[in-house]
Amino acid sequence: MSTEGSGPDSAALVAGRRRGLAWGLLRPLLFRLDPERAHGIAMALAAGWSKRFSGRLAASDPARAPSLQVRAMGLSFPNPIGLAAGLDKDARAVPLWQRLGFGFVEVGTVTALPQVGNPRPRLFRLPRDQALVNRMGFNNAGAEAMAVRLARLRDRDLLQVPLGVNLGKSKVTPPAQAANDYQRSSALLAELADYLVVNISSPNTPGLRDLQTVGQVRALMDAVQAPNQRLRQPRPVLLKLAPDLADSDAIDCAQAAIAAGCAGLILTNTTIRFEGLSESTAAMSGGLSGRPLFTRSTALLALVREALGPDPVLIGTGGILSPDDIAAKRAAGADLVQLYTGLIYGGPGLIRRLLSAPEVCWQ
Ligand SMILES: Cc1cc2nc3c(=O)[nH]c(=O)nc-3n(C[C@H](O)[C@H](O)[C@H](O)COP(=O)(O)O)c2cc1C
Repeated sequence: MSTEGSGPDSAALVAGRRRGLAWGLLRPLLFRLDPERAHGIAMALAAGWSKRFSGRLAASDPARAPSLQVRAMGLSFPNPIGLAAGLDKDARAVPLWQRLGFGFVEVGTVTALPQVGNPRPRLFRLPRDQALVNRMGFNNAGAEAMAVRLARLRDRDLLQVPLGVNLGKSKVTPPAQAANDYQRSSALLAELADYLVVNISSPNTPGLRDLQTVGQVRALMDAVQAPNQRLRQPRPVLLKLAPDLADSDAIDCAQAAIAAGCAGLILTNTTIRFEGLSESTAAMSGGLSGRPLFTRSTALLALVREALGPDPVLIGTGGILSPDDIAAKRAAGADLVQLYTGLIYGGPGLIRRLLSAPEVCWQ
């Protein structure tokens, strides 16, 4: 990338066109491959790029335009569009995500213990629905490896965007010991993160979503906060919920989280309800993301905003593919938004296309 880290807006435009062309050629090839193989190749390229280049953005970069900036949780976000958890589980390509224009990056889900995840196949595309189904099962290298990688990233001093670390429960940990498991990850990672996320909403770890009760939310928040509150500057903690909760249960969990010192919520994770799809999902199980998730995740966001009032930070996630989707999340009460599936269908130029739309200027 000849324009990396320097040059005026026109250079960013040229780079954007080049990325568009490259994606136009690469996408049909990647989509012909098994989805996880395509993911592996894309991640290897992204990680390789991130080792070689800084990913730093020039002051004039449109992704840092003053009109796009958002302040939330005591952090400064250059723009409101973040990378959702699950794409870069081990924080291998953070500089590239920054370079693509994301205003914040959430890595993980990371678990206290390394684990291989579920057997393959575990990732499926539904192109006509602009959706994915996954049952990855938190395949990741574990919190210690993540700490080493984040420390290296911090040493390189490249980050111009907030970095979130999403924490989950190790599969082998019994639900009764979940709090210890989250606490261990928090102790290793809080200092290296700008914010933490307690993820109890992924459908692919047995028993995880059963932690979405008021009592468990309190216990987990206390566990994650214990090492975090010992930091000179404790990090904001968010709770990520599933769209399949009944409205009243989601509101109860959200209120319990805020009462326990949570800065806000991420709404939502993937859904286990496979509804309104034009493609067959006969051989699939797990969590559905992308376009079909949009309506429910946005409705839950609006409900939680109404219940919590204006103060807690809400990150709207689920089915964002266009500027209108972002405007709708904003109208439902989001302070920030995140996406994952949109990037698979829209390609690496999507973020800059979204950022150039007037709907994304929130000031
Ligand atoms: C393949 C895949 C893996 C995911 N892994 C995680 C994860 O590890 N942790 C998590 O909190 N969410 C995970 N998610 C959920 C996303 O972060 C996001 O909440 C959800 O996909 C909705 O956003 P989207 O419609 O833009 O994809 C994953 C999603 C996908 C598609």
